[in-house]
Amino acid sequence: MRKRRLLEPFRIGKMELKNRIVLPPMLCKYATQEGYVTERLKNYYEARARGGAALIIVEATYIHKQGWCYATQLSIRDDKYLPGLSELTQVIHRHGAKAAIQLHHGGRLAKSALSGMQPVAPSAIASAGSPLPGMGGEVSKELTVKEIAEIVNCFAEAALRARKAGFDGVEIHGAHGYLVSQFLSRSYNKRQDSYGGNLANRTRFLVEVIKAIKKAVGGDYPVWCRINGMEYGVNEGITLEEAQGTARMAQEAGSDAIHVSATGPKAPNNLPSHTFVPAVLEELAAGIKKVVTVPVIAVGKMTPDAAERILAEGKADLIAMGRALLADPELPNKIAENRLEDVTPCIECFGCRNDIFSNKLEIGCHVNAALGKEKEYQIIPAKKPKKVLVVGGGPAGMEAARVAALRGHRVTLWEKEPRLGGQLVQAAIPPYKDRVSLLPEYLQRQLRKLNVTIELNKEATVALIEEFKPEVVILATGVKPLLPEIKGLHKAHVVQAGDVLENKAEVGNRVVIIGGELVGCETAEFLAERGKKVLVMRRGPEMATGVGPSLRPFLLDRLSEKGVTLLTGVRYNEVTSGGIVVTTKDGEKKIFKADTIVLAAGAVPDQKLYEDIKGKVPEVHCIGDCVEPRTIRDAIGDGYRIGLQI
Ligand code: FNR
Repeated sequence: MRKRRLLEPFRIGKMELKNRIVLPPMLCKYATQEGYVTERLKNYYEARARGGAALIIVEATYIHKQGWCYATQLSIRDDKYLPGLSELTQVIHRHGAKAAIQLHHGGRLAKSALSGMQPVAPSAIASAGSPLPGMGGEVSKELTVKEIAEIVNCFAEAALRARKAGFDGVEIHGAHGYLVSQFLSRSYNKRQDSYGGNLANRTRFLVEVIKAIKKAVGGDYPVWCRINGMEYGVNEGITLEEAQGTARMAQEAGSDAIHVSATGPKAPNNLPSHTFVPAVLEELAAGIKKVVTVPVIAVGKMTPDAAERILAEGKADLIAMGRALLADPELPNKIAENRLEDVTPCIECFGCRNDIFSNKLEIGCHVNAALGKEKEYQIIPAKKPKKVLVVGGGPAGMEAARVAALRGHRVTLWEKEPRLGGQLVQAAIPPYKDRVSLLPEYLQRQLRKLNVTIELNKEATVALIEEFKPEVVILATGVKPLLPEIKGLHKAHVVQAGDVLENKAEVGNRVVIIGGELVGCETAEFLAERGKKVLVMRRGPEMATGVGPSLRPFLLDRLSEKGVTLLTGVRYNEVTSGGIVVTTKDGEKKIFKADTIVLAAGAVPDQKLYEDIKGKVPEVHCIGDCVEPRTIRDAIGDGYRIGLQI
């Protein structure tokens, strides 16, 4: 078989890369509050370097206090950051990867609450909205020409620091609605001077930054920029044609490569896919590649096969894989070893992205519990291999079994259903959730490879467990659906959302769904797509509050497009044979006719077996939803943790 192009060496300027795989910059929020490198941050990057990516681009790192956007964001704005940054490049270099760092200024998206300074921008327009959820909204100050020159200088000083710290190159963050792209975009740049107006003027700031950096670090030091190939859904946003012009000017100014991303509320890289389409921005990369001679980096939902095709078609030279490398840092090594079946799949849940925009202080991953815990969560052989029984084949149970088996324990897994997967099976059914099924498929493959004994249709009882004589029992028995206390609920036309999704319940034409969190809303969309007339109601004041900012607006928009009615703030009076009686938030009593009432009111832990077995086996642990109903991330996290602990 021909060696994959993805694994061929390449170069950006004088920087030699061992393959074509790039870790794109991703804010992981593992720095200190003041922006210093931490052990955790080093471990995170070292794992990605060890995993085989040729180029590690360290996340958006702010170059000036006024450009600071996120708490625990990394900084390079002062020499005091040099020791930490030097340690960071050392751990990346240890594994033969090259290290670059993304130089960032948030402009109008910066936060005064962090910097104590009013944000600055090409133009002071607070009303222009933001391409990123939850960002912006502050009144910014229009930059003077003198202030622009000062920021250009800060970029150059930051690049010099990067070189001193041992970075092999720098990337200018010219995308995603931050300062540089605010200059590039007609939407945010309304200046009348030489930095506004036509494309050359709007690109002037980027050109000056590139030139100043080159002057500071020397002409042969690799410097490139990341730009938006398009701003989707942004009024007067950047077009591909404009991006091509910018790319040409950037190359002329000395940019050694162009990294082509995209942004905006409708950017396909940020949209959940109904049916997963890989390489969603490839035509933008191809469009830029047509007009420049320097290498082009493509990004956006890449898979190894799509990457291979893109390289073969000459649409790009390097392939950045972001979330895929959060999910599995070893992906490049596994590609090289032809072990794609062992890759932990990114399920496109946008959990990591939600963590960025919901002001969490760190990112996490639903499928990779070791993200951000690379050192503590190393899998090391158990001192004493034990006979382990896992009860329950949902994500928590399967992950516990996988990690325990990897550590050398002898693991048996009992599942009462005829199939593994637990709630993941239902979770993968609603629209836009198809990628979720990759997770149970992967876990099952791993359990088989690791010789875990799997017994399906096997319901655990105390007697059966005692007879089996395990040294450790891990209970991952999941949840029972919650039955809210509503008069008249026990009627034949009242069904559970899970049964609806799995086609186990009859559903009539007019449907009322009780519960407006993720499951209720997803089930509504599922039914609306099947032609049902759906009304979702909940007690709380807003719908889908637990759904993160990267997904919630899309979900609510789709529900409205599909004609689903949403009703918040209700009190439930009674379920009748023909529908439901509620009191609305205005105190009005209303009757809604329904052929079917669907319950999506949450779940309660199923802990009966735990209570019964305690004290009857040497060691017992309860994990996943049977502790408390939570998310896939919690289930996988619990499973991994207990797999390591026993
Ligand atoms: C990002 N992205 C991003 N982009 C960037 O230029 N600078 C940054 O610091 C970040 N931070 C960041 C954090 C997290 C958690 C995510 C998920 C994304 C965008 C990222 O580099 C990449 O372009 C997208 O993730 C799309 O690529 P994938 O994930 O589909 O391969």
